[in-house]
Amino acid sequence: MLRYLTAGESHGKTLLALVDGFPAGVTIDTDPIDVELKRRQGGYGRGGRQRIESDTVDIRTGIWKGVTLGSPIALEVVNRDYKLERLDDLPRPRPGHGDLTGAVKYLGSIRGILERASARETAVRVAAGALAKQLLAAFDMTVFGYVVEVGGEKIEPVDGTLDELRTIRDQSELYGLNLDRDPAIKKMIDDAGKDGDTLGGVVEVRVDGVPFGLGTHAQWDRKLDGRLAQAVMAVQAIKGVEIGLGFEAARRPGSQVHDPIHYDESKKSTSTLGYERPTNNAGGLEAGMTNGQPIVIRAAKKPISTLAKPLASINLETKEPEEASYERSDVCAISAASVIVENVVAFEIAGAVIEKFGGDSLQEMRARYELFLEMARKR
Ligand SMILES: Cc1cc2nc3c(=O)[nH]c(=O)nc-3n(C[C@H](O)[C@H](O)[C@H](O)COP(=O)(O)O)c2cc1C
Repeated sequence: MLRYLTAGESHGKTLLALVDGFPAGVTIDTDPIDVELKRRQGGYGRGGRQRIESDTVDIRTGIWKGVTLGSPIALEVVNRDYKLERLDDLPRPRPGHGDLTGAVKYLGSIRGILERASARETAVRVAAGALAKQLLAAFDMTVFGYVVEVGGEKIEPVDGTLDELRTIRDQSELYGLNLDRDPAIKKMIDDAGKDGDTLGGVVEVRVDGVPFGLGTHAQWDRKLDGRLAQAVMAVQAIKGVEIGLGFEAARRPGSQVHDPIHYDESKKSTSTLGYERPTNNAGGLEAGMTNGQPIVIRAAKKPISTLAKPLASINLETKEPEEASYERSDVCAISAASVIVENVVAFEIAGAVIEKFGGDSLQEMRARYELFLEMARKR
């Protein structure tokens, strides 16, 4: 079973992820992990902190000569902006944060809550996901995330191969797939910032090269759609998750939702095995299992909660009405959210691959993967 826990505060000394259940024999390169960390810090509309930090990962355990040992892997991203001991408490809880609820629940300070609730923690979730991607690469599986909507404005993806789309996304300051849309949307973000306001959006992640049969129909907590939804929903500020058509499926008759099944021997690939689906409205998942089609998952992110033009709040000491506190903050972090969602999805998929094909060593997993494909092709 692949799992991880994280530790660390936003302005604390360091951030840690402890990854358990990662197989032996996977060659790990830290450069692609650092690339993901840098992408998480980028995107149009971020605040000053991203210019202070320049995240890199340090793999502290579980690796020898660049290859995983099958033992727990500790990932560290040191906070270059460490100043927690010098920071004061916030007197006025900010709507949309855990400030009020956490201070009441833990009978303590707002600072004690916000430091852990902050999305800074996602740096090590991204590191764990980027590690998992290196396992997925051994099975020719790719995970690709991008922004499809900002503040209600759509960024309609252009057509192209995965490589072409990746190039477009990496040229876009918004991490979208339609460069023509960027100027208008960047202006929208600028305008929101000038008004002291913030914007959210929608991200999409697709996973290609997925074999049949990851996840299971057999038990609710092992259904892969449910697991993906939990992982994505647990990202800060994500308020909705859709798989495939998602909410749109509820609005259409069945004949326009479910993906017909055809078979074409000549098109047999390791994913489809020849079972052709002219549409992929299911987003690659039926009954909690992967069906050979790409997984498509979307997440809705609410606008940043901390507003430069603050909302009404109260002073927690006096209970008198006052404006909410303001801490240095982003105007729009949807691009970063696309990186985070991409990587938490990658981690869950890697977990499902390990469950299906065994998790001791990559060598054994590959053998079982090949055997399964051989048997499934004869099914
Ligand atoms: C990439 C990313 C960056 C964020 N940056 C900020 C920020 O600068 N200021 C802020 O108030 N909230 C920010 N948030 C959102 C808060 O972390 C989040 O809304 C808050 O912790 C409350 O949790 P909830 O929205 O999941 O209920 C960010 C979220 C993400 C995903």
